[in-house]
Amino acid sequence: MSVQKNKPARRPSIHDLRRMKERGDRIVMLTCYDYGSAKILDEVGIPLLLVGDSLGMVVHGHDSTLRVTLDMMIHHSAAVARGAQSAMIVIDLPFATYSSSDLPLSLRSASRAVSEGGAHAVKVEGGRRMAGVVGTLVASGIPVMGHIGLTPQSIHMIGGYRVQGRSKEAAKRLMAAALTLERAGAFAIVLELVPAPLAAEISRALTIPTIGIGAGAGCDGQVQVFHDIMGLDESFLPRHAKRYADLASVLRDAAREYKEDVEAGRFPTDDHSVDTNKQLNLTDDDLKELRKEFGA
Ligand code: KIV
Repeated sequence: MSVQKNKPARRPSIHDLRRMKERGDRIVMLTCYDYGSAKILDEVGIPLLLVGDSLGMVVHGHDSTLRVTLDMMIHHSAAVARGAQSAMIVIDLPFATYSSSDLPLSLRSASRAVSEGGAHAVKVEGGRRMAGVVGTLVASGIPVMGHIGLTPQSIHMIGGYRVQGRSKEAAKRLMAAALTLERAGAFAIVLELVPAPLAAEISRALTIPTIGIGAGAGCDGQVQVFHDIMGLDESFLPRHAKRYADLASVLRDAAREYKEDVEAGRFPTDDHSVDTNKQLNLTDDDLKELRKEFGA
C-alpha cells in the first residue's frame, strides 16, 4: 500500500506563520496526544500539532481540563515529539501551572514543557491578565500562543462551554485582549467559540495569526480536536466540528472480528506464529524430551 506523503520541507517557525498570514495562506492545526498519531499527522504535512489539555477529557475521561497536570502534558508531548519530525509542536500549559501573580512558576512550567516535553511553543489561556506571563516567557526565548474566547480552564468562572463575545462590551474586551497579547509578544492566538464576524475583525486587527475553533472562516487558521474530527467518541460532536472519519466504528468492527477469531480458533494461524518447527532448531524429539522432563 502506498502512503501519500505531503511533508512540509521543514518545521515551520513562528516567523513562517506570520508570513503565511501575510500571504493569506490558511494555517492548519490539529490536536495530537500520542506517538502513532503524530507520525501520521506529520506525514500528511499538518504544520502545527497542539498537545492540548483537552487530552484530560478525550484521552483520560475527565469531565473538564482542570485535572490535567504538567507531568501528564509532558508525558504526551514527549511522545508526540518522538513521532513528529516536521511539525511545530505547541503544548498547553495546564490549569494552575502559570499565573500573572507567579511569573517564576510560569517560567518553570514553560521551561519544563519545552525541555522535557520537546514542544516548540506553549499555549496559555486568558486575555489581558496574561500579558505578564506572555512577556516573561517570550523574554526567556519561549514562543507563546495565546487563547481567548472560551477558555476551558476558567470554566467555573464562565459558567459553561458557551460562545463568548456576544455583547458589544464583551466584544470590545476580546478585541482589547487580542491586541494586548500581540503587544506582549504572542506569536499567534487561538479564538475559541467567538462569533465569526468578531473573530474576522480581530484577525484583521492583528499582525499575528489567529487560529479559530468555532470562530468561523475569517480566522487565519483552524484548529480542531483529533477525537472530534476522527469520530472516536460517537456520543459527542461539538457543533463547530466536522467528522472526517468514523474511527469508533472501524475500531469496534476490528475488535469484534479479533475477538470472534480468537474465540473460534481462527487466529493465530501458522502465518502468525513464530515457529512451526521450521525456523528454530527445535525438533519433535526435543519437544517430546521437554514434555518428559517437565511432566507436561
Ligand atoms: O486543549 C485543546 O485541545 C485546545 C483547543 C481546543 C484549542 O486548547
